[in-house]
Amino acid sequence: MPFIEWNNDFSVNNVEIDNQHKHWICIINSLHQVLMIEGNGNIKEKVTGALVEMNTYTRRHFAYEEMCMRRVDYPGTIEHIKLHNAFAAQITRYLSKIYSGELVMGTEVMARLNSWLRDHILIEDQKYCSYLAENKDKLTGLSFD
Ligand SMILES: [Fe+2]
Ligand SMILES: [Fe+2]
Repeated sequence: MPFIEWNNDFSVNNVEIDNQHKHWICIINSLHQVLMIEGNGNIKEKVTGALVEMNTYTRRHFAYEEMCMRRVDYPGTIEHIKLHNAFAAQITRYLSKIYSGELVMGTEVMARLNSWLRDHILIEDQKYCSYLAENKDKLTGLSFD
């Protein structure tokens, strides 16, 4: 059973961003999977790999979302970017701890990522929803590659 399952409450009524959030949820689910399979191979290496993927994808997703918010002049853009930056910094901190050999509890990482990701999509991302829907024409030509 997946750790987080996508449902319509997560939708921000923008297909591209919904797809990115779905992929983000896939990454957290595979990280969870890795942590569940204790003693099977090099767990540290796998966790680091999944966190690196989370780090890269998160930054790409944030950049796309911030571009959308700017295009539609969403008034909460600056505050939203601050939340993104704080989360990105948190992932970087976990990664540097792992790289420097510090003990990082998988359960702590999962709990933090889980609650942040859920709250962010369900509360913060929902706030720009109507701005994006009302200004669809301003979003043409944006690509996520
Ligand atoms: Fe998002
Ligand atoms: Fe966001």
